[in-house]
Amino acid sequence: MHPLWSSCNRRSKITHIHLLGIALLLLLFLASPTTSCKEEEKASLLGFLDGLSQNSGLPTSWQNDTNCCLWDGIICNMDGAVMDISLASIGLEGHISPSLGNLTSLLRLNLSGNSLSGGLPQELLSRNIIVLDVSFNKLNGEFHELQSTPDSEMKVINISSNLFTGHFPSTTLGSMKNLAALNMSNNSFTGEIPSTLCVDKPFFAVLDLGYNQFHGRIPTELGNCSHLRVLKAGQNQLIGTLPAELFNVTSLEHLSFPNNHLQGTLDHVGKLSNLVILDLGWNGLNGKIPDSIGQLKRLQELHLDNNNISGVLPSALSNCSNLTTIILNDNNFLGELKRVNFSTLSNLKFLDLRSNKFTGSIPKSLYSCSNLVALRLSVNNLQGQFSSSISNLRSIRFLSLSYNNFTNITDALQILSKLRTLTLLLIGGNFKNETMPEYDTFHSFENLQGLALNECSLYGHLPNWLAKLKKLRGLVLDNNKLSGPIPTWINSLNLLFYLDISNNNLTGEIPTELMEMPTLKSAHSDPIIFKFPIYMTGGFQYRATSGFHKMLNLGNNKFSGVIPPQIGQLQALLTLNLSFNNFHGDIPPSIGNLRNLQVLDLSYNDLTGPIPSSLERLHFLSRFNISNNDLEGPVPTGGQFSTFPDSSFFGNPKLCSPTLMHHCNSAKATPVSIISTGEYIDKVIIAVTFGMFFGVGALYDQMILSRYIYFG
Ligand SMILES: *[C@@H]1O[C@H](CO)[C@@H](O)[C@H](O)[C@H]1NC(C)=O
Ligand SMILES: *[C@@H]1O[C@H](CO)[C@@H](O)[C@H](O)[C@H]1NC(C)=O
Ligand SMILES: *[C@@H]1O[C@H](CO)[C@@H](O)[C@H](O)[C@H]1NC(C)=O
Ligand SMILES: *[C@@H]1O[C@H](CO)[C@@H](O)[C@H](O)[C@H]1NC(C)=O
Ligand SMILES: *[C@@H]1O[C@H](CO)[C@@H](O)[C@H](O)[C@H]1NC(C)=O
Ligand SMILES: *[C@@H]1O[C@H](CO)[C@@H](O)[C@H](O)[C@H]1NC(C)=O
Ligand SMILES: *[C@@H]1O[C@H](CO)[C@@H](O)[C@H](O)[C@H]1NC(C)=O
Ligand SMILES: *[C@@H]1O[C@H](CO)[C@@H](O)[C@H](O)[C@H]1NC(C)=O
Ligand SMILES: *[C@@H]1O[C@H](CO)[C@@H](O)[C@H](O)[C@H]1NC(C)=O
Ligand SMILES: *[C@@H]1O[C@H](CO)[C@@H](O)[C@H](O)[C@H]1NC(C)=O
Ligand SMILES: *[C@@H]1O[C@H](CO)[C@@H](O)[C@H](O)[C@H]1NC(C)=O
Ligand SMILES: *[C@@H]1O[C@H](CO)[C@@H](O)[C@H](O)[C@H]1NC(C)=O
Repeated sequence: MHPLWSSCNRRSKITHIHLLGIALLLLLFLASPTTSCKEEEKASLLGFLDGLSQNSGLPTSWQNDTNCCLWDGIICNMDGAVMDISLASIGLEGHISPSLGNLTSLLRLNLSGNSLSGGLPQELLSRNIIVLDVSFNKLNGEFHELQSTPDSEMKVINISSNLFTGHFPSTTLGSMKNLAALNMSNNSFTGEIPSTLCVDKPFFAVLDLGYNQFHGRIPTELGNCSHLRVLKAGQNQLIGTLPAELFNVTSLEHLSFPNNHLQGTLDHVGKLSNLVILDLGWNGLNGKIPDSIGQLKRLQELHLDNNNISGVLPSALSNCSNLTTIILNDNNFLGELKRVNFSTLSNLKFLDLRSNKFTGSIPKSLYSCSNLVALRLSVNNLQGQFSSSISNLRSIRFLSLSYNNFTNITDALQILSKLRTLTLLLIGGNFKNETMPEYDTFHSFENLQGLALNECSLYGHLPNWLAKLKKLRGLVLDNNKLSGPIPTWINSLNLLFYLDISNNNLTGEIPTELMEMPTLKSAHSDPIIFKFPIYMTGGFQYRATSGFHKMLNLGNNKFSGVIPPQIGQLQALLTLNLSFNNFHGDIPPSIGNLRNLQVLDLSYNDLTGPIPSSLERLHFLSRFNISNNDLEGPVPTGGQFSTFPDSSFFGNPKLCSPTLMHHCNSAKATPVSIISTGEYIDKVIIAVTFGMFFGVGALYDQMILSRYIYFG
């Protein structure tokens, strides 16, 4: 070993960060371009090159006849020995040759972010390497336990985001006394977390086991990891209680076990006074948040969502003044929010208290959180009117207050419209039996992109002030008692692509303006990503507008007239629901032009005439309902029609088909199938894949036909 490095060894009491810093300085000093590379070192590097596939992204500087110390990504020491290989994210493919193990002076190897496959050669673990980063590759196989385990110098191992399998390599890692950071996240490791993790590892500070298949309990011996700063093991199958010993690791800054099956309480959390991030969401925790939470002065993120935690929010939470994120949704919290003085939480950006049992009104102190970006208080028992001081929320973009008992819609809109930054407003399930204000006495929600005011049983009309919401993409007004026609200004909402006005008392004919909606005519639209997912029935959540169908839902109103043939222009539509209305006349054959349509519901109207055979062209159609009309003639058999159940056609006594009660008396009328079954299956597969890609795959079950979408 080079004398300089052995001198480093003698200083092993210094923290690894210092050591790396010094190493880096030495490195700069030592990496003189004049050192020329040793032949056997060059041979090992060329051996590595051999393992890569031909068209791999390795720089052209790697030539046999040149000094390998000058090759890209290589740093040599004074003796011309390679000590640093740094080839992250340059598109390497192929496998990692064991010949790198012959580089006896190699200290750091960084091959992160390539497409390397195959196994990780054991030779790389048994040598002098101190930093090994092969994260974000396609390496696979077991992480073999080494036969002989000489003491290793290893400090940092990052094998995250690969395809490794097998158990935790306890023996191999046990020999690494200097190990400071181990990142095994995002692989397929199984088995239990070993109890020996921290034995003889005085520097062990960072452990990330997240996104694997570890099971069993959290070993109580973790309590011995007295230098652990980061402990992450989310997205595994861990069970049992949070061990009390864990709360003795006061060095912890980041404790993260979301999405496991953990139980227990947070009674001792106050001891972890260095915590910055605490994430225990999606477990089975119960009990209360203790007052001692107020001792966590450094706390920035608190994620306890989707547990069974109950009780009131302790007022001591107000002491955690560095909090930026409080996520407590889907628990059993109760009591009034005003117990917490939010005015001390001036850094707060994200607050989610959805689906608890909070009562009372929105506390005034919350309005002083001027950095708040996303606020969700939906599905609680909150009540009252909003205060005009809500306009202090100068950064708010996402506001969900749905499914509470707020009152005075006129006042609410007046106040909320002052929030210039607001892009998404979900306030449905409030204001019961009130009347929709018709004209704007208020400012114009100038940046609003999504508005849900559903399930309010509101009287009144589709209000004129909506016409001013030029950025609106989604409008959800279902389950009110709105009456009157669809206003003709509807097509001035240039970006609108999701319109749900179902279950109202609307009348009149479909205006031709609705057939001119620009975003429903063309497939293009930019997705918006929301901070919080939008919840819907069936547990589906959507974070982006691309998760939403392009949709027109006019179902269950009192619309009349014919279905305009111009409907064929709305070629981007994925869902069309005109059911439970008074439409008469024919089904326009132009509906066959809506090639993207996945859901078509025309049931419970007074439609007559034949089913147009053009509907056989709707290859993506998965839900189809024309039941309870007065249609006649044969049911087409081509396209998707063979997949629809008889119930799609019931209640049309003049329809005939081989499977319906009424058989067609001759084959003459049966339209010829326009595509073969094989072709049809291909199309379905394409449709499903396409749907998944855009995040709508699981959606069509939930839409229209279920008649109930839950915006909270
Ligand atoms: C490098 O070149 C030398 C002579 O030019 C040759 O002997 C040697 O085999 C080459 N090594 C490799 C790995 O190609
Ligand atoms: C390592 O070096 C030894 C001796 O030079 C050689 O025999 C061996 O083949 C090399 N190993 C690899 C994997 O290149
Ligand atoms: C490896 O390189 C990547 C990309 O430069 C960097 O993000 C990563 O921190 C490096 N790994 C280590 C352990 O330094
Ligand atoms: C791999 O993990 C180590 C230790 O946590 C870290 O220093 C390094 O930056 C990580 N690499 C990447 C690419 O994130
Ligand atoms: C571990 O690696 C993953 C990427 O694979 C990264 O997202 C994560 O932040 C790393 N963990 C730590 C503690 O550095
Ligand atoms: C897991 O690894 C895959 C493949 O490298 C990557 O696409 C994904 O983002 C990673 N997930 C996390 C949570 O780091
Ligand atoms: C935590 O540490 C204290 C004092 O160091 C000790 O008395 C106690 O037994 C420890 N608790 C656990 C559960 O290990
Ligand atoms: C709060 O955060 C700020 C900036 O992130 C930091 O400077 C300050 O030290 C933190 N306060 C505590 C008590 O940790
Ligand atoms: C809603 O609030 C009103 C008055 O604010 C009250 O009379 C009513 O009982 C509340 N309803 C529910 C379901 O809490
Ligand atoms: C709604 O609020 C406004 C302003 O606070 C008030 O003037 C009006 O009387 C309220 N309406 C009802 C029905 O309470
Ligand atoms: C709203 O009106 C319906 C029907 O008139 C009634 O049953 C219901 O109790 C009313 N709800 C409220 C909150 O006033
Ligand atoms: C629907 O509107 C009609 C008038 O068009 C009215 O008579 C009826 O009461 C309304 N129904 C409801 C549920 O509001």
